[in-house]
Amino acid sequence: MTRNPPRLSQDFYYQGVPDYMLEVYDWAYVNPRHADFLDHNWVVRTLLFCNDQRLMRAYLNQVRPGMAVWQVAHVYGDLVRRVAEKVGRQGRFDLTDITPVQVAHAEHKLADLDQAKVMRADACDFEGEAGYDLVVSFFLLHEVPDDIKRRVVDNMLRQVPPNGRALFVDYHRPAWWHPVGWLLRWINAKLEPFAHALWKKDIREFASQAGEFKWMKKTIFGGVYQIVTAERA
Ligand SMILES: C[S@@+](CC[C@H](N)C(=O)[O-])C[C@H]1O[C@@H](n2cnc3c(N)ncnc32)[C@H](O)[C@@H]1O
Repeated sequence: MTRNPPRLSQDFYYQGVPDYMLEVYDWAYVNPRHADFLDHNWVVRTLLFCNDQRLMRAYLNQVRPGMAVWQVAHVYGDLVRRVAEKVGRQGRFDLTDITPVQVAHAEHKLADLDQAKVMRADACDFEGEAGYDLVVSFFLLHEVPDDIKRRVVDNMLRQVPPNGRALFVDYHRPAWWHPVGWLLRWINAKLEPFAHALWKKDIREFASQAGEFKWMKKTIFGGVYQIVTAERA
């Protein structure tokens, strides 16, 4: 298997991609040449200041063989494959993404795993065929405008049945003393305009039915990252 999927016509990659992706994240997630270059574990490790494995473990530790899992957006590197392998052939791993090149990369990574299904869909309104044990957003919320954050969180929670849970792994407000805080402030101002909202508000504040869930929040790396679970009460 080649490392990246074969290239298609340039138009293919831009059709139906939302404005916020084109205006802010073309360089990171839409442009196919850039996606080929960035889709590596070392990129994720660098962006997350070497906290990648710790954050991924927080997700993988909640995955059990036989579970039905929906991950709302693709993530660079091998995370999606690790999750799909962990649910195993008795389980189900549904992965959605709104951007054609990301769907192509995910399909390429998961092609030989029958339990994995990749769909081009907006996390705001995707509806899975059956309920999920676990619904996961791994670093999506900081990359979407606040109205989309609300719609994504609501749609995720809508698909959590009794005894199921949603998991959000994302940025958070760093402690005042954290040296990385100043760098992230600059990155948010220049490159990630939707991220600062997660410094100011808890994820549960984006949920219209927050009271129906039991929320647990843990922060790591001096507050830079948050791991939030919402269990249907
Ligand atoms: C999960 S986030 C960031 C992940 C992380 N920074 C990484 O290393 O890949 C990026 C993904 O979200 C996708 N995305 C953005 N808006 C979306 C939406 N409304 N629904 C589904 N996927 C979306 C983008 O296409 C992109 O593949």
